[in-house]
Amino acid sequence: MFRIRHAEFLAPGIKRFVIEAPRIARKQEPGQFLILRIYEQGERIPLTIESSDRAGGTVSIVVQAVGKTTHLLNSLQTGDSIADVVGPLGKPSEVAKFGTVVVVGGGVGTAMAYPTAAALKHAGNLVISIIGARSKELVLLESEMRAVSDTLLVTTDDGSHGQKGLVTDRLRELIEQGTPIDLVLAVGPVVMMRAVAELTRGPQIRTVVSLNPIMIDGTGMCGGCRVLVDGKSQFACVDGPEFDAHRVNFDVLVQRNAMYHEAERRSMEEFARGREREEHKEQEVEESAQSEEPCSVLQGGEQ
Ligand SMILES: Cc1cc2nc3c(=O)[nH]c(=O)nc-3n(C[C@H](O)[C@H](O)[C@H](O)COP(=O)(O)OP(=O)(O)OC[C@H]3O[C@@H](n4cnc5c(N)ncnc54)[C@H](O)[C@@H]3O)c2cc1C
Ligand code: FES
Repeated sequence: MFRIRHAEFLAPGIKRFVIEAPRIARKQEPGQFLILRIYEQGERIPLTIESSDRAGGTVSIVVQAVGKTTHLLNSLQTGDSIADVVGPLGKPSEVAKFGTVVVVGGGVGTAMAYPTAAALKHAGNLVISIIGARSKELVLLESEMRAVSDTLLVTTDDGSHGQKGLVTDRLRELIEQGTPIDLVLAVGPVVMMRAVAELTRGPQIRTVVSLNPIMIDGTGMCGGCRVLVDGKSQFACVDGPEFDAHRVNFDVLVQRNAMYHEAERRSMEEFARGREREEHKEQEVEESAQSEEPCSVLQGGEQ
């Protein structure tokens, strides 16, 4: 069992967990992920390691609740345990002195890009970060990203924080202004990574994306995470998750990620119904306890 040393919400539906996993913490490098299973019969899900504390023997992850397993995970609290945590998995990010690097993080992708942004800054690059979310309360790790960036640009879809618009609007501006860019790293929803790839293809700016196909074993055995890169099959769990954005076939990625949507929807609905039933039961117990209380007070008064 892997104990949760600390759990806190960073934004609505997005929670950070610090998990005791000393062996993973010792080996983790930026860009790598872990696969966890909350309980023995549970689903295995991949999550990027946001940071690790080698001395303290912990790793942290940032989880956005999107379906059954991530909702269940985000209901866990400090002191709870997770059945299995395997990692670090995947190839670490390529970290070198490239020159000027633009890091683009969309939604929870910001937390996934953070360790690599920090390592790129540490390697002597000039780091321009563009982070975005739907609205102010969903902007993640703003101060952490500011600390590892020479320039930080924030966007929100509704304009409630930073500049109104998409992260790609700011990237487009940088390119149009003639900012010399040696590398772009984009991490976030597939639609965002694909848009970044299209923006940088023309000016031939080297661009890396961190792909998020469905993963099962994470060791290159099951083929679940197959992606098409340069027309060839690659396994994102062992050959990635980072790939050259201009060589990725995003159509195939979108298609493969949609394969289980119906099953995922049913599973989430069932989970939500179960939760409702539990809440209802808890409410009934509470109500009956409350209705018994005056009685005992009365009995006390009668003595
Ligand atoms: C390398 C990698 C790193 C990731 N890092 C993070 C992270 O740091 N934080 C975070 O919030 N999310 C991360 N994800 C996405 C996360 O794994 C999914 O959100 C999670 O698996 C959804 O499971 P669910 O049961 O809650 O949702 P479901 O309802 O089962 O699925 C919702 C969507 O999540 C994706 N998904 C479902 N199962 C898997 C699976 N086994 N593997 C991959 N994707 C799946 C699919 O696109 C699916 O449509 C990462 C994915 C990959 C591949
Ligand atoms: S998750 Fe099974 S091969 Fe990658």
